[in-house]
Amino acid sequence: MTVPPRHPGHPDPFSPGDKVLLYDRKGRRYLLTLAPGAEFHFHGGAVAHDDILGRPEGSSLRSAKGATLLAVRPTAADWTVKAPRGAQVVYPKDQAMILGLADIGPGVTVVEAGAGSGALSSALLRAVGPTGRVISFELRPEHAAVAQRNVHERFGGPPDNWDLHIGDVGERLGATPCDRLVLDLVDPWELLGPAAEALRPGGILISYTPTVPQIMRLHEGLAADARWGMAQTTETMVRGWHVDGLAVRPDHRMVAHTAFLTTARRLSPE
Ligand SMILES: C[S@@+](CC[C@H](N)C(=O)[O-])C[C@H]1O[C@@H](n2cnc3c(N)ncnc32)[C@H](O)[C@@H]1O
Repeated sequence: MTVPPRHPGHPDPFSPGDKVLLYDRKGRRYLLTLAPGAEFHFHGGAVAHDDILGRPEGSSLRSAKGATLLAVRPTAADWTVKAPRGAQVVYPKDQAMILGLADIGPGVTVVEAGAGSGALSSALLRAVGPTGRVISFELRPEHAAVAQRNVHERFGGPPDNWDLHIGDVGERLGATPCDRLVLDLVDPWELLGPAAEALRPGGILISYTPTVPQIMRLHEGLAADARWGMAQTTETMVRGWHVDGLAVRPDHRMVAHTAFLTTARRLSPE
């Protein structure tokens, strides 16, 4: 049975098996699963899980060495950044834009490839909800195992609205009808034929590609096939700010480049 982890803001206090995010004074984040009798060790000393269990979310803790930590439940973004990974994950800033640009919401059927570490799969599953469906393809069995483990942990078991297929997406895509197609793989232009067969007219393709030559080849492929239109490419930069008294300025460091997002609509050429 799928028992979803308690969400941030859940009224229950922390209990065994809960995920907790510990946040130190320098903004470092640590994700752990609470177990009676266990201890968490970091550079600021040890914290007994028993000191967290039974306390409300948002509590302040002290380690054995006197370091202060805040205890909260992890957000979806925290899960993404902290979960074990096989392949490089799609970061929260791009997950948010993928959901927005491709208009992925409740009831929608999404095909995704490749599943990689399951980070984007989790975001898609949450967005489509119980009335939607996510069909993920992953070529490499070892990546599929990581994706499956992360998604099951994220949702407390196998989500009813998720299918994960191990294999080349190109072999089955054409026979997998969908409303949205999300591609995070090296050569998305190679899939435009089966993608046009899979996507219903009006449906949206979104492709995540890190380099300019990839965008060029994808746009060339889209322009050459009358079943595609309204192609556009964007990139998303999120710059944090340092706010401390009068020292209010952009952070010195940021995740400046991850990938470009290209969207296109499936047309009905006739
Ligand atoms: C960058 S990772 C995807 C990461 C994923 N979006 C996430 O957020 O965790 C790209 C994945 O695509 C898979 N892949 C590459 N070509 C594929 C294909 N033809 N069919 C299915 N998966 C493929 C790779 O094995 C790799 O795991």
